[in-house]
Amino acid sequence: MQKRVLGNGNLEVSAIGLGCMGMSQSYGPNPGDRQEMISLIRTAVERGITFFDTAEVYGPFANEELVGEALAPVRDRVVIATKFGFDLGPDGDNRGVNSRPEHIKEAAEGSLRRLGVETIDLYYQHRVDPDVPIEEVAGAVKDRIWEGKVRHFGMSEAAAQTIRRAHAVQPVTAVQSEYSLWWRRPEEEEVLPALEELGIGFVPYSPLGKGFLTGKIDENAAFASNDIRNTIPRFTPEARKANQALVDLLGSIAQRKNATPAQIALAWLLAQKPWIAPIPGTRRPERLDENIGAAAVELTPDDLREIENAASEITVQGARYPEELERMTGR
Ligand SMILES: NC(=O)c1ccc[n+]([C@@H]2O[C@H](COP(=O)([O-])OP(=O)(O)OC[C@H]3O[C@@H](n4cnc5c(N)ncnc54)[C@H](OP(=O)(O)O)[C@@H]3O)[C@@H](O)[C@H]2O)c1
Repeated sequence: MQKRVLGNGNLEVSAIGLGCMGMSQSYGPNPGDRQEMISLIRTAVERGITFFDTAEVYGPFANEELVGEALAPVRDRVVIATKFGFDLGPDGDNRGVNSRPEHIKEAAEGSLRRLGVETIDLYYQHRVDPDVPIEEVAGAVKDRIWEGKVRHFGMSEAAAQTIRRAHAVQPVTAVQSEYSLWWRRPEEEEVLPALEELGIGFVPYSPLGKGFLTGKIDENAAFASNDIRNTIPRFTPEARKANQALVDLLGSIAQRKNATPAQIALAWLLAQKPWIAPIPGTRRPERLDENIGAAAVELTPDDLREIENAASEITVQGARYPEELERMTGR
């Protein structure tokens, strides 16, 4: 698989990474057991993926342990990204955001231990903490970089102005925020232009719209009781029905390109900028191969124009998050 370089920090990653969150939470029970998830991560490495995404809060804690164990044999060949920024009790209860410098120090030690690594390759602030000036957060990460415990600084769902302030203290290598054909805030709120200007890479999360853009979730699909999509307005049956137009658009381009809707959704992201590397999540080997195949799908300027024109006619229905989660973004 081809590589991409994130930011002036020159972090080289596979064009498509692997989001590992769903292996420990969010989308209902795993189709396989823990050992199968470890095998899946190792298969991803064999197929050329070198970019893996986890977070302290996924599980909580368990996802870092899973990713660390799976990647231990190939540690030197991969980039492991994780995230700090929540106040988690010993049992993993989430007490809200916390990016106080002393907390970042502690959180980094915990992530290093669970991942079983000496250095975190890319350490993102998961959500901006309104009670801690971003300069202090950047300073705390800078200290970890000086100690050799972190290689690169990242941010997630931060506003352009916050990214600029952080970057002035400790250069940011990558920003990770939601971005796909059904969520385009990074364009609308001038995040992408700021990243381009500052030399910061971009990592779209939920690049498949939490599965919706693959065409495998229609208005009749049912989710397991602990699936987060039950709580998301964009996933009510009515919203799914209304948003089907977007999937139909991806489907029509896919047919012409001998590809799948998921591959077109990912290829569209890759075509936006050469410094973008999406991290689709899956727990199924056949979908891993499908998603990797997106790196070989080339969209011409005509294809991109067609997608753009058709997408501009579609108004996506339903919020992407419940209100309390949305409030934590864009700060
Ligand atoms: N920074 C943040 O705040 C943040 C927030 C959310 C996510 N993330 C990161 O981003 C990663 C990806 O985001 P995400 O998991 O929310 O959403 P996503 O990658 O857009 O979609 C994942 C969903 O799509 C399904 N899927 C994947 N490939 C498929 C295919 N080819 N065909 C049909 N269905 C497919 C998966 O099901 P199966 O697993 O059953 O295949 C899963 O339900 C996460 O793993 C996490 O690392 C970060």
